[in-house]
Amino acid sequence: MNKNRRLLITASLGLAGASVGLYSHQRGLRYPRIGYEPEPLPVEINGAFGGFKLHNLIPVLPNKTSTINQSIPTVSLRAIAPDAQITINAKRGQVNVIINNIAQTATLLVEGSGIRNIDEQQEGITRTIKIDTAIEQEVKLSWPLPDEDGYKFAVIGDSGGNTELDWCLKRSTQLGAQFLLHLGDFNYGNGDYQRAITVFQNAPIPCYISIGNHDFNDSGLIYHHFRSNLGEMNNVFTVAGTRFVNIDTAADFLPASAGMRGRLFQELIESPQERQLFFTHRPLCDPRPGEDHNVGSYKGVEWLSNSINAAGGGALLTGHVHHSAELDINGIHQYTIGEGLGHDDVLLQRQVAKLMVGTVEKGRRPKLSWEPLNMPWSAHKSHTHLKKLKKRGDPRLIDWYSALDFQISD
Ligand SMILES: [Fe+2]
Repeated sequence: MNKNRRLLITASLGLAGASVGLYSHQRGLRYPRIGYEPEPLPVEINGAFGGFKLHNLIPVLPNKTSTINQSIPTVSLRAIAPDAQITINAKRGQVNVIINNIAQTATLLVEGSGIRNIDEQQEGITRTIKIDTAIEQEVKLSWPLPDEDGYKFAVIGDSGGNTELDWCLKRSTQLGAQFLLHLGDFNYGNGDYQRAITVFQNAPIPCYISIGNHDFNDSGLIYHHFRSNLGEMNNVFTVAGTRFVNIDTAADFLPASAGMRGRLFQELIESPQERQLFFTHRPLCDPRPGEDHNVGSYKGVEWLSNSINAAGGGALLTGHVHHSAELDINGIHQYTIGEGLGHDDVLLQRQVAKLMVGTVEKGRRPKLSWEPLNMPWSAHKSHTHLKKLKKRGDPRLIDWYSALDFQISD
């Protein structure tokens, strides 16, 4: 090989290496299970009926129990925020739109002319809309919430996907919440993922979900179930003047600023706001003495806290550590709300677990308060309880819980 050819090959390899490095740097590597950060979900769908532009909606897998006429083009979507909107550039004809996770109190608003017929059926938090248009035209659909002075919501994480999750939703509704922020980890194995998807699809109130580490990877990377059924891994929405920011901390990023999360923060920092709530899975700081189950990534805590402050600051709501606590870190007040399994109830044999209830009102700072979870013993069915008790090695508690489990399994 002559010298020029060798130089050319070396230069080409160097260029290719630099390109891969730059691509990886911007897109982001996720670890400990190595993979690239996924691309964002589509915000436009094109089909036989025309084009759909989605705002705070994601395309999802069709619900298997739906009885809608599938000979007509049908689009299945899930709202990932209260201000979901679809703009349909419709061709002439019929289309069905099934949208899950819309508040039962929200009302369909249709903008556009030339519609021959539009029919909306409501079943819980699912709307089925049949549209028949006479001409090619643009139709905009949205579901505004009633114009109330304030909205109430509940917050909890680390529920698993069993009957504890059912109870968290029931309790949120009892407390008057109009939506739930779920802080991730609904998948602790053995059918939890699919069960949780079904529970979230049939919940009494909309759920906006932050992806947890157990929902991201298990025996392999599994986050595609999340994105094809429940949500995008980062998003932002505003309710009554408060900006809610859902942040992905399910797995580490290299570098911390890469990927969809980094791009979202670039946008937030360009328009900082005063009233904000950030919600995510892993905390900036583990509130348990001697434990360090916090946001990973090289300089991840520093990058995330600086980014939150640069975007205007606000409280951070986190789960991940099966614990309730408050602390201040890098100028941010962190609430850890991770008692969705109510495991401390089992450890102490009395109801001690808590969840959080918040209120947002126009012109006011968001208010947050702790409320008892009041989980009944019949709801403590997750296999995680026994696993944790065995790890702890307290035979008295194992016997007590096993007897309880036996009774409620019948
Ligand atoms: Fe977790």
